Amino acid sequence: MTNRQQRVVLARIPTGTPVEDNFRVIDGEVPEPGAGEFLARTVYLSLDPYLRSAIAGRHMGHAPAAVGDLMPGRSVALVVRSRHPDVLEGGFVVMETGWQEYAVSNGRGIRRLDPTLAPLSTALGLLGMPGLTAWAGLTQLARPVPGETLVVSAATGGVGSSVGQLAKVMGCRVIGVAGSDEKCAIAARVFGFDGCVNYRHESWRDDLAQATRRRVDVYFDNVGGPVLEAAMDLLVPRGRVVLCGLIGQYNTGVPITMPLAPVIRARAQMFGLVVYDYEPLFDSYVARAAAWLREGRMRVLEDRAHGLASAPAAFARLMSGQNVGKSIVVVGPEAIEGHS
Ligand SMILES: NC(=O)c1ccc[n+]([C@@H]2O[C@H](COP(=O)([O-])OP(=O)(O)OC[C@H]3O[C@@H](n4cnc5c(N)ncnc54)[C@H](OP(=O)(O)O)[C@@H]3O)[C@@H](O)[C@H]2O)c1
Repeated sequence: MTNRQQRVVLARIPTGTPVEDNFRVIDGEVPEPGAGEFLARTVYLSLDPYLRSAIAGRHMGHAPAAVGDLMPGRSVALVVRSRHPDVLEGGFVVMETGWQEYAVSNGRGIRRLDPTLAPLSTALGLLGMPGLTAWAGLTQLARPVPGETLVVSAATGGVGSSVGQLAKVMGCRVIGVAGSDEKCAIAARVFGFDGCVNYRHESWRDDLAQATRRRVDVYFDNVGGPVLEAAMDLLVPRGRVVLCGLIGQYNTGVPITMPLAPVIRARAQMFGLVVYDYEPLFDSYVARAAAWLREGRMRVLEDRAHGLASAPAAFARLMSGQNVGKSIVVVGPEAIEGHS
């Protein structure tokens, strides 16, 4: 094994939507694990909207990043050398690797994976943090019942596609909101949604009213802004809203605001969601969702880029809404990818 590796660092701090030039690929040394640590090789790197807030210092636990800092990020990684008593070489984990080919960990916060359960990359999407976000928002907060109408925005992304499919399993009528006709076609064809509205069409507000038959029991919000406001206007009395994400403001940092009258009018319940509160549900959720995946009741769509050097462009695509499906960079060698 060579002791050199590729790493991606910040070349400039992004102002607004990140672009490829904000990042630089550099050559670095593969670190040595100390006592109680292990070395892992990045196989699949997860690209997530929270990373934009993290480098700006607006995400919990992250200080603002500086030029030259390694980009943060979680990956599915293969343990290649272990000096940790409970982490075996040859095992797969989800861990904070940052955007680099090899990383050392002391084991804190890792999640061990069973490669026979499902394709490994699903541990970053449906069977990972985005899926748990969806599951927690539905089962712990909104609690939809069969026959209710649920609307979800960013409908084909990691969280949105999980929300819609889980809500279908729960017996709901599901309407997605997405940013292109292609995404809407995928929401219906791949994920089995009952309808989907493209908010870039001029008639989108009427389209949403029609698709929901002017009845929204649950709105799962991933974006904030006009779509949130439109969904609020269609909320039934005592309708529930899960506030999950504000991607519309991550690039600008300008706070999204909303009128409060519709909240009062609908006697709405609004829930703020932070996935980290629901870690204890992870194992039971993954067992259920893996079974639904195997049975064909749920599906996975990934927006894959190949090679670590493609991460900056893929992240720029994600943060400008051009990804279709869960955004992932395949970093590890084909032989490992073939494993999943
Ligand atoms: N609360 C939590 O604990 C938690 C946990 C995980 C994720 N989240 C949030 O959930 C949301 C979805 O995350 P994800 O990982 O599944 O991402 P994603 O949906 O795969 O990707 C982001 C999508 O957001 C949409 N979007 C809407 N407005 C946008 C804008 N102004 N700029 C860029 N994209 C825009 C785009 O889809 P369209 O073209 O369809 O609009 C884009 O494809 C994010 O807001 C994320 O921060 C929250």
